[in-house]
Amino acid sequence: MDNRIHLKTPDEIEAMRVAGQQAASVLRLVREHVKPGVTTGELDRICHEYIVDELKAVPAPLNYRGFPKSICTSLNHVVCHGIPGDRKLKDGDILNIDVTVIQDGWHGDTSKMFYVGDPSVKARRICEVAHRALLTGIEMVRPGVTLGDIGHAIQTYAEGQRCSVVREYCGHGIGRGFHEAPQVLHYGRPGEGVVLEPGMTFTIEPMVNLGKRHTRLLPDEWTVITRDRSLSAQWEHTMAVTADGVDVLTRLPDDEL
Ligand code: MF3
Ligand code: CO
Ligand code: CO
Repeated sequence: MDNRIHLKTPDEIEAMRVAGQQAASVLRLVREHVKPGVTTGELDRICHEYIVDELKAVPAPLNYRGFPKSICTSLNHVVCHGIPGDRKLKDGDILNIDVTVIQDGWHGDTSKMFYVGDPSVKARRICEVAHRALLTGIEMVRPGVTLGDIGHAIQTYAEGQRCSVVREYCGHGIGRGFHEAPQVLHYGRPGEGVVLEPGMTFTIEPMVNLGKRHTRLLPDEWTVITRDRSLSAQWEHTMAVTADGVDVLTRLPDDEL
């Protein structure tokens, strides 16, 4: 395990932006297909074909440590790493789609929540809290801030909304590697941990539960669910630390936030 943080040059960050924008374009492309009756396996096929045939990129999850599909699809009480399959989407579901592409050797990793039909008020709320948790983290990013400051801000926001933050899974450094150092925890204490420097590239990807924070791994050894079966939501961006702030590499130009 390589624990060194790989700082990226400006040219390398531009190469990562290409991968990041491509990953984001997959989420935009798949959006219109997320509706009742579609299976998560069909969404995987749509994304796979777009990534390979149109983007000429590589879907990073496929065969990564044995993962069998090209995207992760995490429904309702699934926290993360859901495997696409025969499950048909139904009205009221909330779905996370997590896309990672490799372009020219560089990774771009992003995920968002989708509403299937018309979800309940509480289902929409957990999606909004998780989104706001990600934005709270991103707003903190600049040189001199620590990863503990970021985790603390995310945790304080989410718990203040009477939601809980998953601790077993975290954000990560990213670049030529899918999961590089450092680990980016979504909880923590101010002033602790790695101090941010320009050229660092990592993801923030808080998983926020309506109930308790605890998780369980299903026997397929990938799918992570909430232990109390409460709803869970997650949003993810890949970003770079700049001289005076943050550059969100997976945010499309026409996206509001
Ligand atoms: N994209 C996930 C992340 O945000 C990782 C998925 S690993 C896989 O880090 F093998 F499940 F694809
Ligand atoms: Co990630
Ligand atoms: Co991801």
